[in-house]
Amino acid sequence: MKVIVGNRPLLEARSLEKSFDYQLFEDLSLSLYSKQSVAVMGRSGTGKSTLLHILSTLLKPDSGEVLINGRSVYNFKEHEIEAIRRKEIGIIFQSHYLFKGLSAYENVETATLLAQTDIDKSIFEMLEIDHVMNKKVSELSGGQQQRVSIARVLSKKPKIIFADEPTGNLDKETANRVIDALNAYIVANNAALFLVTHDITIAKKAQKLYQLENKRLNIR
Ligand SMILES: Nc1ncnc2c1ncn2[C@@H]1O[C@H](COP(=O)(O)OP(=O)(O)OP(=O)(O)O)[C@@H](O)[C@H]1O
Ligand SMILES: [Mg+2]
Repeated sequence: MKVIVGNRPLLEARSLEKSFDYQLFEDLSLSLYSKQSVAVMGRSGTGKSTLLHILSTLLKPDSGEVLINGRSVYNFKEHEIEAIRRKEIGIIFQSHYLFKGLSAYENVETATLLAQTDIDKSIFEMLEIDHVMNKKVSELSGGQQQRVSIARVLSKKPKIIFADEPTGNLDKETANRVIDALNAYIVANNAALFLVTHDITIAKKAQKLYQLENKRLNIR
């Protein structure tokens, strides 16, 4: 008899369905465990960002469930889901959504105030943005802005990080460093990473690599 010893996933998706102009997902399921990183690749328009938004509670599927710590997020009370978004979930968006008129430091500070965590300056050093933290976001390069948005998420100390093409604007060396930093973070903090990327080198650093294709996640 095969005995499956396992803990409960941090995040689980069961039988997701979602359509916009056409059907994106059909019976799509996924489990994400603590200390695990999962990468998703796929053609443009297959629904990778949509899936990330559903898993991170920002968008509802047409049917199916998303569970965090074994509880369906659609059964949470509004204040519970808000607390989860504020503290447990960190989203690195494809477009960064930084406050452009604030400094890089102030952008991070806003997130840590909401999540009630302390600013850890070693995160800025690790991402090599410590020298630009007092500059306004509007004065930073695209790649620097991207790393500020990553610093903002890591500073919240979330349990689950959702990253939508976080290395899209970065040179190869910086991209590698950023992904290594995210992977080190999840191991050190018993957290998990859901990563969308078009870069196979980056995707291969995840423990599991899926292709979003034919409306499902297929192991590749
Ligand atoms: N809010 C929305 N309303 C209507 N259609 C949408 C919405 N969001 C996404 N779509 C459609 O769903 C499809 C998938 O979009 P999505 O952004 O998830 O793709 P993607 O796989 O992330 O693509 P890319 O690799 O280009 O980022 C697209 O056809 C898009 O037009
Ligand atoms: Mg996308």
